[in-house]
Amino acid sequence: MSVKNLILGIFLTENSVNETIDSLPGVQRWCLDRLPELCAELTEVGIPGVALFPQVPADKKTADCREAYVPDNLICRALEVFAQQAPQIMTICDVALDPYNPAGHDGFVMEDGSIDNDSTLVALRRQAVCLARAGAKIVAPSDMMDGRIGAIRDALDKAGNPNLPILSYAAKYASAFYGPFREAIGSASALKTDKGTYQMDPANAFEARREVAQDIAQGADMVMVKPGTPYLDIVKDIKDQFEMPTFVYHVSGEYAALKAAAQNGWLDYDRCILELMMGFRRAGADAILTYAAMDVARLLRQRDGLGG
Ligand code: PBG
Repeated sequence: MSVKNLILGIFLTENSVNETIDSLPGVQRWCLDRLPELCAELTEVGIPGVALFPQVPADKKTADCREAYVPDNLICRALEVFAQQAPQIMTICDVALDPYNPAGHDGFVMEDGSIDNDSTLVALRRQAVCLARAGAKIVAPSDMMDGRIGAIRDALDKAGNPNLPILSYAAKYASAFYGPFREAIGSASALKTDKGTYQMDPANAFEARREVAQDIAQGADMVMVKPGTPYLDIVKDIKDQFEMPTFVYHVSGEYAALKAAAQNGWLDYDRCILELMMGFRRAGADAILTYAAMDVARLLRQRDGLGG
């Protein structure tokens, strides 16, 4: 377990000050003006990557989700800060419509409430190309539409970005552990139905292999299993089966549950978080996306006798 295995999940706000997030103690939404501070800290501790998530103001959420591919949207402007302040950082950008969609879903919602898979692919292609132009180092489709990896690969190739890597959220379960994230990006109150028609049923193990195999066949360079703790069997299975760079997402609810218990004095946060990270590595994860990356980096420095 080393700092090189860590990716920090970060939330961004259009507002001019950093904001706390009630459901995620210790995590803030970063405003662009203060992002250079975070860049400096990441550089100092040596965390190699970040995953960026925007909180989009209500007036920019529209049925056509056009803000997802406006060239100066919040994510694009944040990418510019990273390029200037910390160009070595691997910026990983979600491809999915949920922050931009008044319905809170990752795809377009039809009148009968179902998700319009194929028209969503058109928007995802535009979003991915927009992120590529803005300098994203990795695009990470997290939407779970059918056929998205092939569609996005094709769009990137045609737009002149044949070498931009795709990290696919390949085995993404319809989990109750995403609750605090949806609060953080402001999609929770809008969601009328769960995401179970496109995200996977927690009861299914082998479906993960089929999803991952499809994404690799369509051009995924790296695959992710999400959430982490309840799906360690899947992490191990996917790493063993496919021998691909395999990421695990220690999601918001997993983080928040541990924080809450620690705040009550019921669990030792430092020891538990390291134990969780060790578990992910043991299961075969090459990289761990977590809101606790800074904490873990500090604990690893202590472990290695390099000071706090
Ligand atoms: C949405 C997305 C989600 C997360 C990352 N990207 C939530 C969802 O599927 O509703 C969740 C991450 C977390 O809970 O930390 N495309």
